[in-house]
Amino acid sequence: MTLDLVFFGGTGDLTWRKLMPALFQAWRHGKLPAHSRILAVARDERSDAEYRAYIHERFGTVDSAKRPSDDEFARFAELLHYRRMDLSQPADYAALKAELDGRSADTVVFFLATAPHLFPVICAQLGAAGLNSPHVRVVLEKPLGHDLASAQEINRIVRTSFTEAQALRIDHYLGKPAVQNLMALRFGNALFEPLWRRESIANIQITLAESIGVGTRGDFYDSTGCLRDMVQNHALQLLTMIAMEAPISHDADAIRDEKLKVLRSLKPYTPESIARDVVRGQYRAGNVDGQAVPGYLDEAKVPAGSHTETFVALRTEVQNWRWAGVPFYLRTGKRLAARDAQIVINFRPVPHPIFPGSQHANKLVIKLQPEDGLALHLLAAKGSGVSEQLSPVSLDLDFDKAFPSERVGAYERLLLDAIAGRLNLFVRSDEQEQAWRWVEPVLDAWEHAREHGGEGPRGYAAGTWGPAAASALIARDGCAWSEEQ
Ligand code: BG6
Repeated sequence: MTLDLVFFGGTGDLTWRKLMPALFQAWRHGKLPAHSRILAVARDERSDAEYRAYIHERFGTVDSAKRPSDDEFARFAELLHYRRMDLSQPADYAALKAELDGRSADTVVFFLATAPHLFPVICAQLGAAGLNSPHVRVVLEKPLGHDLASAQEINRIVRTSFTEAQALRIDHYLGKPAVQNLMALRFGNALFEPLWRRESIANIQITLAESIGVGTRGDFYDSTGCLRDMVQNHALQLLTMIAMEAPISHDADAIRDEKLKVLRSLKPYTPESIARDVVRGQYRAGNVDGQAVPGYLDEAKVPAGSHTETFVALRTEVQNWRWAGVPFYLRTGKRLAARDAQIVINFRPVPHPIFPGSQHANKLVIKLQPEDGLALHLLAAKGSGVSEQLSPVSLDLDFDKAFPSERVGAYERLLLDAIAGRLNLFVRSDEQEQAWRWVEPVLDAWEHAREHGGEGPRGYAAGTWGPAAASALIARDGCAWSEEQ
């Protein structure tokens, strides 16, 4: 198979930080089609050799196990080419078409790693230049839109040039091996399914905690905020995978139909429930990993007095027969106590305890990062004598150890799927729009508060688990976040 993989935004952060290392791994694993060409597109003038040197230098910042030797890079770099384009100029797309037609690859994938406001322009221009025939696919990175209306507008324009099956919306969380395992756990094993419902589950907690701050992305982040950056996409996608019904097959639309149903079942927010069930925070100066770090308002490119949230905790419910009344708690934020992404399924306690003193119930912890694994918390008798208390024990499964050489990173997986046209791990436009529809009342309420001098986000010290109000939110239901249990 011949492949042309074109990166718009070829010199940008996403390309060198995530995409090139992922492509290099795919190449190293022998998974890229034999006749692949990678064409990076950006605004400035460069030769192929200059572009290769630029990427080579940036590989120096990549995790050392994933870094190429000079010899490996030299071989990988033969695939890399560079093209200058002005993305607003039809003539530049015509010239790109001439170049691609010259090779007439079996598959052409355009990866839009540019600022999102350019997506409609690029898609419309690709369509106008005839670069949208059925062997072409376009990959769109988040954030896709700023709210429901802007997401719908992007989708409308994308649709004028590409079919739904040609337009692949990335949510890189779906490419994480642990998230694949979530599907495998639920639908490849019969064990949990009978318990996966309101009768057995007390509550579900999804935590996506980061210890990093906004770094050099202060300007982007300040106009985005945590709800748009992490909740509307990554956290909600995880929630759909936990809550969805079994799809009728492993087919992409069968899966996405079920995910969409979950998004449609989420309890809509009202001004009263937002005030009660959503907490937003903003980090203040503190200590992370023993290092003093500045507060959000002192980060580069963050405007004075910003109300942008760097933390969100919320409570919601999935309003259907399986989940009625079961609280789903989500929380995510920057500069938290640890980098820790996990889903905790808290089961109900036994209905009639016969052992003394046991307060614990079973829980299943699905670990996404930094480790990737499962831990099933059970209660066991040590056998130390009569009337002993049961002790918590856990069955731990470490997927990195179980499958040491076979794991592929999220972007590698998603790039290979995009090349092969496998859509399972990409977000369909209706899912994405429904997620915007659900978060929008919260965005509106915060905007309203900002305009009317209302309360902003609550402060929390960097290196903690967020504002105290997040603990109060869950304590109201008699529960606690997993680290407090
Ligand atoms: C991105 C967000 O989508 O996900 C970033 O824009 C965030 O702000 C990142 O840091 C987290 O991804 P991961 O894979 O490091 O958990």
